Amino acid sequence: MKNFLTPSRRSVLLGAAALSLPAIVRAQSSFVVMEPRKAVTQILPASYPQTEIWGYGGTSPGPEIRVKQGQSVQRRLLNSLTQPTSIHWHGIRIDNAMDGVPGLTQAPVPPGETFDYDFVAPDAGTYWYHSHFKTMEQMDRGLYGALIVEEPDALDIDREEVLILDDWLMQQTGEIDPDFDAQMARSHGGRNGNFVTTNSLYQLILPAKTNERLRLRLINAANARIFPLALQGLSGWVVAYDGMPMATPERIDDIFMLAPAQRMDLIVDVTAEQGEAAAIVWANEEAPQIQVGFEVSGKASATARPTPRALPANNEPALMDMANATKAKLVMAGGAMGSLREAELNGEIKSFREIAGENQFWAFNGVVGMTDKPLVDAALGETIRLTIENETVFPHAMHLHGQHFREVLADGGMGPMRDTLLVGGRANAEIAFVASNPGKWLYHCHMLAHQDAGMKTWMNVSA
Ligand code: C2O
Ligand code: CU
Repeated sequence: MKNFLTPSRRSVLLGAAALSLPAIVRAQSSFVVMEPRKAVTQILPASYPQTEIWGYGGTSPGPEIRVKQGQSVQRRLLNSLTQPTSIHWHGIRIDNAMDGVPGLTQAPVPPGETFDYDFVAPDAGTYWYHSHFKTMEQMDRGLYGALIVEEPDALDIDREEVLILDDWLMQQTGEIDPDFDAQMARSHGGRNGNFVTTNSLYQLILPAKTNERLRLRLINAANARIFPLALQGLSGWVVAYDGMPMATPERIDDIFMLAPAQRMDLIVDVTAEQGEAAAIVWANEEAPQIQVGFEVSGKASATARPTPRALPANNEPALMDMANATKAKLVMAGGAMGSLREAELNGEIKSFREIAGENQFWAFNGVVGMTDKPLVDAALGETIRLTIENETVFPHAMHLHGQHFREVLADGGMGPMRDTLLVGGRANAEIAFVASNPGKWLYHCHMLAHQDAGMKTWMNVSA
């Protein structure tokens, strides 16, 4: 208790951290309530009607959760929706019982009831939380927020911004399109919105100064949209993917992709002068536009800073025994224009036409949806290599719960640690990881219409 009340050097430096003190203190003795519920808010421009969203505490994004590495997060889910729900803490190396996956790690929480989530955040980085029940609908209606785990020491930056990208499928009436069963989205690229926002604002504008150094925490909370992004008037480096620091910051000099559920931590220096354009550009092919704009006024310093240092490494075991790794394979099939002829659905072999009749479209290793047996059954400490063959024509953002993995690159090198990998249409990939966290871990496509229409399986790590 005393530690939290003694103002540290850091909380004096960072006003935002100081503001969150009461919540942390309260968490010592009781759980902070997170209440998913309906609310009405302005998402579309002011000339349009308001929108009914579902949000934690009635806002979307929900309240930012911010703790220091190694601290615990204690939240009481109080379900004020009219349907069951759960919360998943995406990317956290969590106790399996706290992972929030109904049917695998907990029962769905009925309306009016509560569930206590209590876990430690072992790794620093940019994470997020979201509903994991009827995810396609609940997350789409706004049930998500940022979960920030701070490094022990402050970085050499002027300030940071958490930027949650999303797209909403809106009607002229301001209503979120309620057709979550739409076959088109489920069988093609997923549910793409028609109104793109950052922190629920269209073309968010932030103040900036020339030579200011910012840490930007990008989170893609969209149902299915892959954001191609570019920097303008900013010079930047990637310092972490999916919460996990890069050994060396990677310079950005091209378009970079942020797939659903992925995060990127950037360090950017404002190079634009007052009156010049500075932005994160949504570099879509049809009509590139400002995703986040920076209004530059004044100078933070006379000169630019040197290249940023890497973030301190996290604690997640990263040493893989590639020579003795256990191999497994995942064949992804189905969808429109795919070659899936038949697959197992609810224990029966069915034709693709029959499967489509049930509004399901995708199979992993010939099975639509969850299986009794895990895709991988690993012993603690075992290195797993998983080959992914994407026979579909669509890209998929494949997310593993509970631990991070690396992509095994074609040249034998290893990609950065990630929890979500974008696998291109009709492309193959390989991932490897140390099974370091015991439990039952979901492995699924984070294009939520795909997940809902068959693309999910799980891995077991025995203690
Ligand atoms: Cu983000 Cu399974 O989820
Ligand atoms: Cu997919």
